[in-house]
Amino acid sequence: LTIEESVCRMGLDYIDLYLIHWPNPSQGQFVEAWEALFEARERGLVKHIGVSNFLPGHIDLLIRDTGVAPAVNQVELHPYFQQHEQLAYDNAHGIITEAWSPLGRANQMLRDPDLKRIAAKHGISVVQTILRWHLQYGDVAIPKSLNPERQRQNLDLTAFELDDQDMADIAAMDNPEGHTFGQN
Ligand SMILES: NC(=O)c1ccc[n+]([C@@H]2O[C@H](COP(=O)([O-])OP(=O)(O)OC[C@H]3O[C@@H](n4cnc5c(N)ncnc54)[C@H](OP(=O)(O)O)[C@@H]3O)[C@@H](O)[C@H]2O)c1
Repeated sequence: LTIEESVCRMGLDYIDLYLIHWPNPSQGQFVEAWEALFEARERGLVKHIGVSNFLPGHIDLLIRDTGVAPAVNQVELHPYFQQHEQLAYDNAHGIITEAWSPLGRANQMLRDPDLKRIAAKHGISVVQTILRWHLQYGDVAIPKSLNPERQRQNLDLTAFELDDQDMADIAAMDNPEGHTFGQN
């Protein structure tokens, strides 16, 4: 019913991709919620279904109990928090990893001296450097901007490429505790 209402309120015929925001494990209902999304898909209300903030153990349970893996897992991921294990798990299960806060919410990462150096080397902005890194790293970044000029810049990522040294320098920025403040 909630999905039907969302489709109606947005004035759409269907939703391309619908995600469960997080597993909320203390409630123990995420498998049930996952099964509800099958019905929405069967009814044509959504085309693809996925999850967000699910750890491998949560996805293991979805697959064990329903045999269906999510199309997408949306997690926090950026150069300061690279989520190697989650990405490897998602890849092994055919799940697209989508990166939320891909720019670290425009925090100090945008002033990182190494990212500035790589950006200057290619004549691009730090934000383009980070978004191009996401593309080559293998996730799908969803940067948010209210500014149309920035939105255009954030899509302009195909005329340049980071080299192996750039990728290695950014790999070295990873920090298992590097998630954005207050968003764990
Ligand atoms: N599933 C989840 O649990 C979860 C959690 C958090 C976020 N999200 C989603 O992830 C998406 C993005 O995450 P986010 O908004 O937290 O962080 P983000 O995309 O990493 O950063 C957004 C910030 O970057 C700035 N920005 C964007 N493009 C820029 C550019 N070219 N130059 C300079 N600054 C730029 C924006 O400012 P302006 O708007 O002023 O350009 C904004 O302050 C959102 O759609 C959000 O809903 C999901």
